[in-house]
Parts: sequence; structure tokens; C-alpha cells
Amino acid sequence: SRNPDWWRQAVVYQVYPRSFADADGDGLGDLPGITARLTHLAALGVDALWLSPFYPSELADGGYDVADPRDVDPRLGTLDDFDALVAEAHRLGLKVIVDIVPNHTSHQHVWFQEALRAGPGSAARDRYVFRDGRGARGELPPTDWQSLFGGSAWQRVPDGQWYLHLFAPEQPDLNWDNPEVRADFRTTLRFWADRGVDGFRIDVAHALAKDLSEPLRDLGAPELSREEALAEFAPGTHPFFDRDEVHEIYRDWRKIFDSYSPPRAAVAEAWIPDPRRALYARPDELGQAFNFEYLQAPWDADALRTVITDTLATARGAGASATWVLSNHDVVRHASRLMLPPGTDENAWLLSGGHAPAVDPEAGLRRARAATQLMLALPGSAYVYQGEELGLPEVADLPTEVLQDPVWEQTGRVRKGRDGCRVPLPWTRTGPSYGFGASGSWLPQPPGFAAYSVGAQDGVEGSTLEFYRAALRLRRKLTTDETLTWAQDTPPGVLQFDRSEGWRCVTNLSDAPVDLPAGEVLLTSAPLEDGRLGPDTTAWLSV
Ligand code: GLC
Repeated sequence: SRNPDWWRQAVVYQVYPRSFADADGDGLGDLPGITARLTHLAALGVDALWLSPFYPSELADGGYDVADPRDVDPRLGTLDDFDALVAEAHRLGLKVIVDIVPNHTSHQHVWFQEALRAGPGSAARDRYVFRDGRGARGELPPTDWQSLFGGSAWQRVPDGQWYLHLFAPEQPDLNWDNPEVRADFRTTLRFWADRGVDGFRIDVAHALAKDLSEPLRDLGAPELSREEALAEFAPGTHPFFDRDEVHEIYRDWRKIFDSYSPPRAAVAEAWIPDPRRALYARPDELGQAFNFEYLQAPWDADALRTVITDTLATARGAGASATWVLSNHDVVRHASRLMLPPGTDENAWLLSGGHAPAVDPEAGLRRARAATQLMLALPGSAYVYQGEELGLPEVADLPTEVLQDPVWEQTGRVRKGRDGCRVPLPWTRTGPSYGFGASGSWLPQPPGFAAYSVGAQDGVEGSTLEFYRAALRLRRKLTTDETLTWAQDTPPGVLQFDRSEGWRCVTNLSDAPVDLPAGEVLLTSAPLEDGRLGPDTTAWLSV
């Protein structure tokens, strides 16, 4: 449709291309694999798919190390394959969102290769952040800034200079004060918008603008380079996160988005709290920003009520639409995560192979379904991560020899990283890689994946897949406006609200069954218990 506001209440399905479907049998998911499976997304009932990076990349960071932002990784296909994917998606009524990675490139990008050759002080080096080191011979990094993946954020090159990388050393940060950098991303946005892409997800949207005035400032304590430590700075003044100037970039991009009909949509990935996060979502900027406070909230009625209320108020104040997300390629899948007691060290849990504490997969799935149905009732758009419609748990017991996430090595094998949510999808009950492809998969799938496969759930009453389909079908019929009204005097542990179209959502987060409110039951995330709503269950009712 040409509705310019399609994204405001959309359900967007995140595809992690290398783990979705492998058409050519090399063990790596690819674009033709996605195209062949788009009917799965249409039948699920989502509005759009968001493709994580499929650009040429040596996979130092799962594709977020982009060697050429205007091409397709040859292992994943060609630009023609991309066009075919978009055409088929549009034929099925699905919008397509692509990932833009503007904070850094791959070190294999022609610009970085040129910068290495050109030497200190060159125009080529000015597209990145090169500096001389400290110490008598420049042998110390220019500042104490730490990479988000561990270790110094500076890497030395053979001629003695250092370059900045907030992530892996293979991901040199771009210098957004450089006009060529700005111009090149305008070209990239137009390149994909011209190919029919409907929207963009902006990676690390809050890190592009940096205070690079001399002398660069130390942060004092290395941990202050972490996003969590933003609070140590007056808003907008951290040397590289969430600086006020970053918004000029998005105001510039909005002019490009709005030059298309319908205007291209955009969503910021910015791991910063509201109300600063909402600034990225203003109508003259990106329109939306992922809401990670909801993702990080404990499974607790009061905590969730507060996050939901605050999120809606802040989004409304910014003129944006709210977003909700429970899982993505960077976090522990919510069918496992929501079972971890508040305060659990997730990394320690992953290092224990998911055994300390043990998570009962059935209980986890029950809770995940309740959380999902609650999310899908909220005003705004919901982002669903591939495999959650199958109820996939985190693969917490991946042996360390198979880990691919750079976080593992870069932290000196301290942080296990994000591979456990990136294991390729099971499509069939049997077969090599459970239908992911004709051979193996780039990360090993556990035998338990058979029971989660699409083949095991398709058409099976009560399966998680059929539950998602039913929820999305109902949501489509019901959702129009962007408000909710909390019920008063609900029992402790119960969240209940009405949407103006005459329907009601109630979630029981307590550990005992509760009475259902008035209304005709439309859908529940688990069977009712003697007509009552059991623990960890959500119901939708018409009123
Ligand atoms: C974003 C991506 C993550 C990636 C990082 C660096 O947070 O979601 O996967 O590692 O940016 O690009």
C-alpha cells in the first residue's frame, strides 16, 4: 500500500540472513533462500521483514563489518537476487527494511585500504579516525577508550598511527565530520531506496557524531566508555555516544526518505534510555527507535507497567510511534531470558552451558508466549526475531570451539557472545540441518531443534507457530489507534488494559490463577485453567 504511515503499527520480522535458509547448500543462509521462504512470513502475518546485513563482508562481526555497502556478499547472492527478493516480498504484500551500518566499515572496505596506503595526514585517513599514539614513541593508544567488544578501542597500524574502532579491530570507525563520508551514505540510502526498499534500520545510530577536537579526552575509567555509563555525562556531551550533533545527520537523511513516495521508514538502534532515545524517533529524523528498556525489563507486572506507560508517553511527546522488541540477534532469546532470575549474570549463565541456573524449556516457552501476546497488544510496532515464532530457546550450550562472535576472542574468552541466538533455523523435522540447507549449518543446531521446526508445528493446534499466526491475524483486525487505557484495581501481578477498538489484554504474571475480566475470549497464550487465567498467560478479550 502507499499508506505513508504503514510502519507506525507494523509487525516487522527480523531476518538474520546467514541463519535463515541456505539455498545453495554451502552452510550459510543466502538471499535466494530467503526469497524461497517468504511465503512463511506472509502466512505468519507480518507486515515487513528487516534484513540484517547481507553485504560483502569477511564476517568479522556477522556481517556488521561491511566491505561494500552497495553490493551483496557473493556467498549470499547477487544484486539480481536482491531485486528478486524485493519483488517477491512486495508481491506477497511484505515491506522490506535493510540495515545501514554507518558508524564503521570493514577494514576491507576500499576506503580503509586506501587510508592504510596513503599514510598519516592524508585525505584518505581523514575518512576514519587516525591519531598518533601517546608515550615517547607513540607506543600507547591515543586515549583510554574501550571497545564495546573488549580491549582498547585503538589499533596500531605499521606506520605507527592508531585508528579508532568502537567494535572489532576489523570495524574502523568512520569520521562523520568528513563531508565525503556524509555524501557516501546519502548515495547508499538512495541506492537501496531506488531498488524499492521501504525502510532502514540504523545500526548504532547514537555513535556517529564524535568529539574529535584535540586533545581527545580520556574517560578516566575504562568502563565509562560503555553505553551504560552515559549517565556520567551531561546529556549530549559524552565524547562518542548520543551527542547532540548526531541528530543533524538524521535530519539530513529524513529529507532523502521523504523524497520517495511513500516516504521511506527508519528505525534507530540506539542502546540509550528514554527520553534521549525518543529524540532519534522525531518525525523529522528516523520516526522510530528500538525500545530496549522493554526488552531489558524483568518479568514483573509493576516494572512492565512503568516501562509501557513511560514509553508511550515519551514516544507521543516526540511525535513518534512506540516500538517493542523481545529478541534480536544481539540478546539471549526471550524463551530462555525471561526465566533467568533478575540479576542473573547472563554471560555466566551462557558459560555454564545454560545449566546454572537451569531453565525449564516448557516453562520458558509458556512465559515467552505470554510476553509476546502482551507485546503484540501494545500500541506501536513490534519487532519479531526469526525463530521466536517457533519458540526457539537460546542455544546456551554451544561448545566454545564453534563460537564465531568476535566478542569471545576479543574479551580474552571471558564473554561468550551472541552466537546462541544466531543458530540457523529448523524448517523440517529431519534432514541435514533440519531443512536449513542441503548440508550442514555454520553453527551447529542441537537435536532438540527438530521438535521446534516449522514442519513439526505447521497446522498443529496449540503450537507456537499457530499461536503467532492467530495472534497476528487478530492484531491486524484490531489495531488502529495508538493509545491504551490501564484497568484500575487489578490484582497484584496482573497487567490489564483496554484498546479503544473494544478489546482488552490481560496478562497474569503472578504464580496463581486469576479470574478473567469480562469479555469474550479471543485468544490465550496457554489453555485456561478451569476457566481462569493461569500463571504466565495472556488473554485477549473483546468487550
Ligand atoms: C549493532 C548490531 C550488532 C553489531 C554492532 C556493531 O549493535 O546489532 O550485531 O555487532 O552493532 O555493528
